[in-house]
Amino acid sequence: MGRAKKVVLAYSGGVDTSVCIPYLKHEWGVEEVITLAADLGQGDELEPIREKALKSGASESLVADVKESFIKDYAFPAIQANALYENRYPLGTALARPLIAKILVEAAAKYGADAIAHGCTGKGNDQVRFDVSCTALNPNLKILAPAREWGMSREATIAYGEKFGIPSPVKKSSPYSIDKNLLGRSIEAGALEDPKFEPPEEIYEMTKAIADTPNEPEYIEIGFTQGLPTTLNGIPKDPVALIQELNQLVGSHGVGRIDMIENRLVGIKSREIYESPAMLVLIQAHRDLESLTLTADVSHYKRGIEETYSQIVYNGLWYSPLKAALDAFIQKTQERVSGIVRLKLFKGNATIVGRWSDNSLYTPDLATYGAEDQFDHKAAEGFIYVWGLPTRIWAQQNRE
Ligand code: ARG
Repeated sequence: MGRAKKVVLAYSGGVDTSVCIPYLKHEWGVEEVITLAADLGQGDELEPIREKALKSGASESLVADVKESFIKDYAFPAIQANALYENRYPLGTALARPLIAKILVEAAAKYGADAIAHGCTGKGNDQVRFDVSCTALNPNLKILAPAREWGMSREATIAYGEKFGIPSPVKKSSPYSIDKNLLGRSIEAGALEDPKFEPPEEIYEMTKAIADTPNEPEYIEIGFTQGLPTTLNGIPKDPVALIQELNQLVGSHGVGRIDMIENRLVGIKSREIYESPAMLVLIQAHRDLESLTLTADVSHYKRGIEETYSQIVYNGLWYSPLKAALDAFIQKTQERVSGIVRLKLFKGNATIVGRWSDNSLYTPDLATYGAEDQFDHKAAEGFIYVWGLPTRIWAQQNRE
């Protein structure tokens, strides 16, 4: 009796997930392994990946194009939440995991599988995101994570795979661990494990080195409707096209790189390099439009919600009741967040240079220092008397 009869395995085409196929069958007694590769716009060719799974012993090899749902249902809500983990990382990897979990669980139902499997190790965040998301969507499914238990080195993994006809990587595989999708690239390990080591230029693909960026600034205008980006330079764009075009535009000016030490959920600090041009600029622009269209108290209160939201997405709680409750708050705040933000891209900087909205709360005749000023200056005196009263009482008491 094996650990499960029929398993749906999250499949990327890499050595580790390929080795999972024979490993599940021969070591853990799984009868049938169905693989599922998600197209998240990572740019890999998926037909060879599909075939590789079959050659590695999968009974069925599925490929799902989920690009549109990825942007609409996962990235866009994160933009509305201005979600940046530890104030910097726009969660490109973290947002993909709950979507992959969802299609794994759906495939398990369709094919009558009793377990889900993935190739994550025991040290990262992704295992948590997969396991918790799958459990939330179907608590009856078993979750198998062979790489968490097999204890094989890189070399041993490759050797194990070769026994089952899985070719060792042809080109000398990258010294880094890279995860990529439409939202960006996450790069770690290798020489980057030394936090004082400067990332070499060759690790970047989506963002140009400043030395190679145009010598003229480029202006772009991003239009939002109820907090969702809908136009670029006045032209309506579907979600996937908008992200792709913005990645290209913004990255070509060297904007979108992040080098940070981050706190993983499992307690480890890790050094991460990210490239995420579109997401960074969209969050920057969205936040700016909020300052034009939201009242001060909603804006300030939302900051705390955003912080919590970013943490729970990072920590694998996408399908949790707290996340759903925060979503409801955020959605309510977005009703009037419509308008246009104008940015200047130049030499590694994206600078907001203008914004306008039909819902603007900016009141020129109150803000102006010119002759049109409508603000009642005398009213300020009484306001300050009341506002400062507790401080005055406290100060008097303390003098005695
Ligand atoms: N630390 C990031 C996260 O947890 C990215 C991890 C991506 N994986 C990788 N192989 N680089 O979301």
